Order: sequence, then C-alpha cells, then structure tokens
Amino acid sequence: MNYVKKIEESFSNFNVSLKIFGVWKTYDGFVLVAIPKHGEDNSVQRIRNAADKINDYNVFPTISVEAVNGLILLIMRDSKLSFYDLKPLLPLLKNEFNDMELPFILGKDKMGAYCIEDLPNLIHVLYSGFTGSGKSVGLRVLVSCLIATRDVSDVNLVVISMLSNSLDELSDSIFLSYPIVKDHMEAVNVLEALVSEVDRRLSMSREEFDQAPYIVTIIDEAPRLVDDSYSKEYAQKAEAKLSTLLQTARKAKIILVLASQNATIKTMKSDIGNITTRLAYRFGKSHSSYAAINNSGAERLKGKGRFLYNAVDIDDPVEIQGPYVSDQDWKQIIAESNDRNYGSSTQFTIAKVIAEDSNDDIMPETSVFFEENTYEDDGHDESIEPQELCEIILWAFSQKTVSANKITDKCKMGKRVEKIMGELTRLGIIDELRSKQPRKVIPTSDIEVPNDVLTLLLNHGFDLKTIKQAFNGRTAE
Ligand SMILES: Nc1ncnc2c1ncn2[C@@H]1O[C@H](COP(=O)(O)OP(=O)(O)O)[C@@H](O)[C@H]1O
Ligand SMILES: [Mg+2]
Repeated sequence: MNYVKKIEESFSNFNVSLKIFGVWKTYDGFVLVAIPKHGEDNSVQRIRNAADKINDYNVFPTISVEAVNGLILLIMRDSKLSFYDLKPLLPLLKNEFNDMELPFILGKDKMGAYCIEDLPNLIHVLYSGFTGSGKSVGLRVLVSCLIATRDVSDVNLVVISMLSNSLDELSDSIFLSYPIVKDHMEAVNVLEALVSEVDRRLSMSREEFDQAPYIVTIIDEAPRLVDDSYSKEYAQKAEAKLSTLLQTARKAKIILVLASQNATIKTMKSDIGNITTRLAYRFGKSHSSYAAINNSGAERLKGKGRFLYNAVDIDDPVEIQGPYVSDQDWKQIIAESNDRNYGSSTQFTIAKVIAEDSNDDIMPETSVFFEENTYEDDGHDESIEPQELCEIILWAFSQKTVSANKITDKCKMGKRVEKIMGELTRLGIIDELRSKQPRKVIPTSDIEVPNDVLTLLLNHGFDLKTIKQAFNGRTAE
C-alpha cells in the first residue's frame, strides 16, 4: 500500500525505521501497527518526536504514537471527521444499557470505542477547560443522555447556569425541579433546598429512599457562584452549601456536575479536590491541565469537544472525543422526553423565593471578572470594571489584530494591559500567541462571538445591533 510506504519513508527521514504490518480503520481515521526495525534505537520518545515533526508538515492526518507490548501503534486521525452527533446514539444507550442506573456516553476513545459510564459511579464530576473548548456541549450531552433514557421518576434536574445560555432550552423540561437558576439569590435558595433534601433523604426508610429519584445538579460556570465580587453574603452562603453538598450529597442520590474554566475555584480548592472524576478539555497551559487531571496533556488537545478523562479507577488519563448536540437536536431531545413523560412531574421540587427587593440587582459594583491562575499576579493590579472590559471587547471586534501597545494607546491602561490581554485570550477573543506580536482577533462577525462573551455584553447594556456593528470596518493594525 502506497500510503503505508509513504509513512514509513517519512519516519525514516527523521531517522526512525519502522516496519508497518497492519492497518485498521477507526471512526475518525486509522491505526497502523508497526514494529521498530531490528537493532535500531527506536524508543517511543524518539518515535513520538519524529511523529511531531511529521505532523508539522500536515500531509497526513495527525499521528499519535502508543507503545503496546513491544508494538508501536500509529494512531492517525482526521480531525475533520472526528465530529459526530449524539442523537442517533441515544436509542442504543436506552436499549442496551438497562443494567446501569443513569447511563451516559462520554465519547469515543482513540480506537473508536464508545466510553459509556453510569453517572452514580462517578460520584461528582468536574468539566474543566478553556472557554470554547466544549464544556457546555459536554453538559448538554450528559443531560440529553439522562432525559432520553430515563423518566422523571428516575431522575430530576437542578440547573444553575448564571453566565452561559447553552442549557436555556431546558427551561421547558419537566425534569427540572426548579427553573434554571440565573442569579445568586436563587442559587443560594436552591443549594439550601438540596442540603435539606439530603437530610430528609437520610432519614427515609430504605424503601422510600430506593423510590426517590436521583437529583443531578448541574452548575455551569461554577466559579461565578462563589465569586464574592457580586455579593459577599451570597457568595459565602453558596460556597458553604456547595461544600456541604460535595461532602454529603452522594449518600442521598444527589450528584453534582460542575463546569469551570479552571480546575481550582477560588476559596474552595479543597472541596473541588474531592471531585475525583474529571474531564479536562483544552487548556492554554500545562499547569492548568495538571490542576485538572494530575497530568499535563490537555494543553495539547486539538479540536472542540476533545478532552482527557481521569477517574479513580483510571491510571493514565484517556483521550476522548465527545459527541455533539446541535441546538435543533437539543430542542428535539427535550421535547421527546417531555412527551414520553407527559402527565408526570418531578418528585423533588423547590419552592420559589421572593426577592426582598426586586430592584436590588446582584450585579457587581466593582468586579474582578477574572479567574485565578490565568496570569501571574504582579502585585500592581487594579481590577478592571466589567463595563470597561466590554468596551475593550467591542473595540477589539473592530480590529483584525490587537496588541498590548495598541490597547495601551487606545485605552490608557498602563499596567493593567497584561490582564486585559490575558482576559481577552481566556474569553477566546484573541489567539494565544505568547510573543509580543499583534494577536489575531478570533471572531470576525457577531455569530462567531462566544456565548459567554455575548452574555457578558448583553448583561452590560450592549445590544445585538451594537455588537454586530462593532465588526463593520475592521481595520488591521
Ligand atoms: N463535541 C463537539 N463536537 C463538535 N463541536 C463542538 C463540540 N463541543 C463543542 N463544540 C463547538 O465548540 C463551541 C463551544 O463549545 P462550548 O461547549 O460552548 O464551550 P465552553 O462551554 O467550554 O466555553 C460549540 O458551540 C460548538 O460549536
Ligand atoms: Mg460554556
């Protein structure tokens, strides 16, 4: 086979002699089985280095190298092919995994095999990774699996999503125990109700307990919940309740699923440390990957929806491509699950709280819209108002590239410019080059603006028209 010869040749150009003797197809490429030629120093590291160089030329699908029992596997994946939809897989999950309580599809591993887990076995789960890496889609996948395969008598949902809109369609779902939580006061209310439910469940009879549905509590953008720049009081309460839940909820069939851009959430490191099931989507830096899964590697992940998975029973994190749920499929999955459960309602419900003063928005007065660890603290820091950040974002949209100097000129930022650049990178507005070169502005039109950024802008008084217009007349630096 010509192709095989070419790959052997490419390796030999980098002084690695391999003999390829087997090929098989996987979902997004193929695996070549090779043996090092006799008498050569072909350590796995050398072969990997050669593969990296070959990958730089981009002539083949990306090659990664694994060693198994003295054989070398060259795993070749075409990233264009690697996306696949969840929806067609749901009947399989429903029909074939009835021995599991809450089966869900994590994704496919490198060999194309599905990784299917029973959620209660995972205890609690943390989805972490850069903005735009696929966390919210991952949450959609999880929720879709739950509501498509189980009924309201099996599982109820609590959703806290204060910064992201990607779960909003769920507000129509009859699996919800409470409307989707969008503010701090309600978040505290909901967490308190869950803590009480733990106590209630622990005093139930065995029979009653067995009948009780699982309560899966999803918290997207979890750091927002405990960020005290919004309201110290609510943040402290939320944090205390969340800590309690992380320690006690499991015994009461309450499962927490958190998504965060960072694996360490300010002020509650130790508790997050208790979440042993972790998905690390792409990160900018290896130390963030390390914080997430005790291993580097997530900084090298390519493509959306790809993550490294680590759990108690896993020695080395496994690379997995998560499925995709489009807006249309998402709506349909919700509608179908509602139809199937027509006339039922959640066993667990939470009473609504009435705001003491409904004009009292719990918006930040002066805010640090930052996570820790994104950049080094230089001791000179002054925080950046969200309003100011929004203005800089809009200005950035009018540019093809942005540099630290240009921001300094434009906005009289002084020392804070590094923070701004860090923040623009984290939000997925400029690319990640670490040199002093001007950085490319990633969105080129309003539809490419990441959801989180859109929400931020809308929350700070910028309307869609203004955002759209910001892209007109983009100028290069
Ligand atoms: N598994 C996936 N397959 C294909 N595309 C994906 C996948 N996950 C995410 N994406 C794409 O990436 C975008 C950002 O994903 P999202 O989950 O919103 O990121 P995050 O929540 O980490 O900021 C999505 O809108 C989608 O276009
Ligand atoms: Mg998100």
